Amino acid sequence: MGYVASARERARENFGRAGEFLSEMRRKIHREGGWTDLEKQPIVSLRDIAVSFDGETVLKDFNLGIGDGAFVTLLGPSGCGKTTTLRIIGGFVRPDAGDVFFNGKKITGLPPHKREVNTIFQKYALFPHLNVYDNVAFGMRVHGKSEREVKAKVGEMLGMVNLKGFEHRNVNLLSGGQQQRVAIARALANEPKVLLLDEPLGALDLKLRKDMQVELKKIQQQTGITFLFVTHDQEEALSMSDEVVVMDKGAIQQIGTPPDIYNEPKNAFVADFIGESNILDGVMREDFLVEFAGRKFRCVDRDFRRDEPVDVVIRPEDVDIVPPDGEHLAGVVRNVTFKGVFYEIIVDVQGFKWMVQTTEFERAGAEIGLSVRPDEIHVMHKSKYSGTFGDYSTFSDEMDEDSRPAGGEAR
Ligand SMILES: Nc1ncnc2c1ncn2[C@@H]1O[C@H](COP(=O)(O)OP(=O)(O)OP(=O)(O)O)[C@@H](O)[C@H]1O
Ligand SMILES: [Mg+2]
Repeated sequence: MGYVASARERARENFGRAGEFLSEMRRKIHREGGWTDLEKQPIVSLRDIAVSFDGETVLKDFNLGIGDGAFVTLLGPSGCGKTTTLRIIGGFVRPDAGDVFFNGKKITGLPPHKREVNTIFQKYALFPHLNVYDNVAFGMRVHGKSEREVKAKVGEMLGMVNLKGFEHRNVNLLSGGQQQRVAIARALANEPKVLLLDEPLGALDLKLRKDMQVELKKIQQQTGITFLFVTHDQEEALSMSDEVVVMDKGAIQQIGTPPDIYNEPKNAFVADFIGESNILDGVMREDFLVEFAGRKFRCVDRDFRRDEPVDVVIRPEDVDIVPPDGEHLAGVVRNVTFKGVFYEIIVDVQGFKWMVQTTEFERAGAEIGLSVRPDEIHVMHKSKYSGTFGDYSTFSDEMDEDSRPAGGEAR
């Protein structure tokens, strides 16, 4: 009995250690860029890919592995190379350098129809002269499936996307959301191993978009098909994905789970692109001690060089407002916007404008103190993005940009 118990104990201990090792490996690989999910074998990998169009580099030194069965999202501003990445995997673009692997086999030169990959585009590209049933059946018929098989599969797929009873409808008369469901059913009916989705919800209004996000996620979980999803909407990426690949200017900036990306941004670009961030110039004095805004703060970061110049990220929701007591950072409220659940205020601290989200009302002109807990201070190495983002001085300009239709450059 005692022996069994201690063996079990030992096994548990070893198991725990293996788990820790695996998590540490994952964290390390995430930090250094590379695979999306180490626990899942990559089904698709891109190695050392480079692409340029008309002499202009679109992707460079691009390395990415997509975990089998994962929901992975490419997120980045317009023109960063998301669609190009999908087109390389789909076989529609041949890279100038590098290779594409599918389950470990090189498929770089394989034509699109021989890849076990299907694509759903933002514009649904349904066949306008075919009804719903025939659209979904199309691929199976091309592959010579019997009408009995086709009928069963079309029924199953239309059930999955909630379009039972729509078989004989004219696709041109369906709503945008319904057309997109047909496109999803049509792609899934071919039983691809990987589904590439290029901003598939971009044309839908917000309410429908949210519903479809939930449905798509459910379909991915039910079918176990690997989804590679493209969006420039960070909220969509965070809420749907197992892993997010943040891109800018043809290069991967960070790969990680949504909480990793939000809580541990790797550089000022990621911190700025995902949510709101105050990004301050700082100096890492020693392990767990960082200086910014003229003061020293305890933090939880370590392993920086002594006196290394750094970027310090503080999220607006992590700043507490305290009385101006001379002990805390002091600032003056410049602007207050009611956001429903909280107030968003802009606070001038020695000329640097912080964004703070608070449930307490503060009036413009009020002098306040700002307090931040050590674990809410996130220290990053300097990067080429340092100094570009993170001060809310030009906030009114940014609000104008935010209210523009989707598809524009990130600020
Ligand atoms: N066939 C092509 N010929 C020339 N330039 C191209 C071609 N395809 C893409 N590009 C350029 O490559 C860059 C990346 O384009 P891509 O479509 O991959 O961006 P994206 O991240 O999908 O952007 P968006 O969010 O606007 O869809 C852009 O500058 C684009 O103009
Ligand atoms: Mg695109």
